[in-house]
Amino acid sequence: MDTTANQALALSAVRRPSDAPAAFLNDVLAGLAAVPKAIPAKYFYDQEGSRLFDRICDLDEYYPTRTEVAILAENRAAIAATLSDSPILIELGAGSTTKVRHLLDAAPGLAAFVAVDISGEHLIAACAALAQDYPAVPVIPLVADFCDPLRLDGLVPEGRRVAFFPGSTIGNLTPGQAETFLRRLAAALGPGAGLIIGVDLEKPAAILEAAYDDASGVTAAFNLNLLRRINRELGGDFAVDAFHHRAFYNAPEKRVEMHLASRRAQRVRINGRTFLFEAGETIHTENSYKYGLDCFAALAARAGWTVTEVWTDPARLFSVQHLTAA
Ligand code: AVI
Repeated sequence: MDTTANQALALSAVRRPSDAPAAFLNDVLAGLAAVPKAIPAKYFYDQEGSRLFDRICDLDEYYPTRTEVAILAENRAAIAATLSDSPILIELGAGSTTKVRHLLDAAPGLAAFVAVDISGEHLIAACAALAQDYPAVPVIPLVADFCDPLRLDGLVPEGRRVAFFPGSTIGNLTPGQAETFLRRLAAALGPGAGLIIGVDLEKPAAILEAAYDDASGVTAAFNLNLLRRINRELGGDFAVDAFHHRAFYNAPEKRVEMHLASRRAQRVRINGRTFLFEAGETIHTENSYKYGLDCFAALAARAGWTVTEVWTDPARLFSVQHLTAA
């Protein structure tokens, strides 16, 4: 495909229909009525939340992004060897698509690159830039929630498919959800599927707690932005200053938990419903699971995948892994 065709393609993303606004309201109302209160982490990512997340990725304390990028750069030849048969590469939650450039540089013969992301505008801009920089690779933007079952029908050419799922986003699912997600992914990708995935590793609590409660307060702003989003999009009346950010490592569960804690007893109204908070009561907003290598391999095996290679950094903070579907 020539550059012109590639750019035209990149500017017209395929959109899978979504019931996003209704789902947001339903999930928030159900989550605040539950005991304990909880809201799914995927709702962090409105425009401001995505901007704050990009800032988190640059923080000194937040080791995952720079460590994963270093692993990708250091091992690009070995990682590219897993893509040497010109498969279709599909990035899940593509965002700004910076990490995949390491793979596109090292494996220029891909049959196509499909970037899946919920945020259409962001995705189209990122894909237009990719299409310009990699004119030989057809770039296909797909606006969809990667948590929903992946539907590639009629969108990608025939051929082996490999998913790229960096950032340890898998860690934001419970192990049970992660297993279901990986099982469905293998089915959606089809025969001979591969997966290149970033998985954050277990480490001392002090490193983790600094990464999720940084000194400059960016992660706190990211967490609190969820309340602003509820106020704006769902007509809520959260007094945002009446909540504060909490992050801690739950060692038995092997996860960092983020919460929004109520500074006082208060009531909040959303869409005609009232929710009562006691002083100190929290809304659980995110889990970020950390894995041992054996534990992740066992989870992947239960979902029908075999870990064939693991690349890590010298301090073993983070891993990039290659898996094949059984
Ligand atoms: C997107 N996800 C992998 C991030 C994480 O580390 O769990 C989200 C995040 N939350 C706070 N900081 C970063």
